[in-house]
Amino acid sequence: MNNPNHIAIIMDGNGRWALKQGLLRNLGHNKGSEKVREITIYMAKRKDVSYLTLYAFSTENWKRPKKEVDFLILLLNKYLKKEEKTYTENNIKFNTIGDLKAFDIKTINMIEELKEKTKNNTSLTQTLALNYGSKNEIARAFNSIKNKQDINEEDISNALDTKDIPDVDLLIRSGGEKRLSNFMLWQSSYSEIFFIDTLWPDVEIDEIEKIIKDFVKIHRKFGNI
Ligand code: IPE
Ligand code: IPE
Ligand code: MG
Repeated sequence: MNNPNHIAIIMDGNGRWALKQGLLRNLGHNKGSEKVREITIYMAKRKDVSYLTLYAFSTENWKRPKKEVDFLILLLNKYLKKEEKTYTENNIKFNTIGDLKAFDIKTINMIEELKEKTKNNTSLTQTLALNYGSKNEIARAFNSIKNKQDINEEDISNALDTKDIPDVDLLIRSGGEKRLSNFMLWQSSYSEIFFIDTLWPDVEIDEIEKIIKDFVKIHRKFGNI
């Protein structure tokens, strides 16, 4: 009966949330970013959850119309600037996974500055997956260890972007789709997975709380009996 140490969320459904009420998709992303703050602060206040990883932008999301991609990057920049105090006031360490090289230098600098400023914070490590795709991450990892002999599982884990964070205990996807969309394939190999229909901007803490309660009841056997 253990609480999840690492919770990861595929935050899906922003676009549909907006369209449902006759708004532009981008307004759904705005609303979704407010939800990021709310859920992150909640997890920081819970003493038993140490890691929260949020899928914010995938390696596949570049396929979206340029206007939406540009908006998402603008939103990320605004978020990094505006939320600094959320991290400091709540003792949250900021981290990222994904290939940051795709972003412009201004964004990269803001990301690195926030990481530096929050590196000693201890209530929660919040990891944003930015230009993240599991296959891309694994390919980069293989390249970084290609000269090594007899590669074992630990070598691979240590070459992934997640080398400093443990595997995912509880994976939640909002928005009704039942797929992983290239998210943490290695790190979720033994996660408990919950798919919920609620669109990300509508997800409430009570629903997450209920999932955690259900998670705690699961007998995680890891192949044992
Ligand atoms: C998830 O919401 C956010 C990102 C992928 C950036 P979507 O934008 O995928 O929302 P839907 O799935 O179209 O509703
Ligand atoms: C997954 O959502 C990516 C993020 C939440 C950032 P998508 O909406 O991009 O995934 P698909 O296209 O439905 O698989
Ligand atoms: Mg989607």
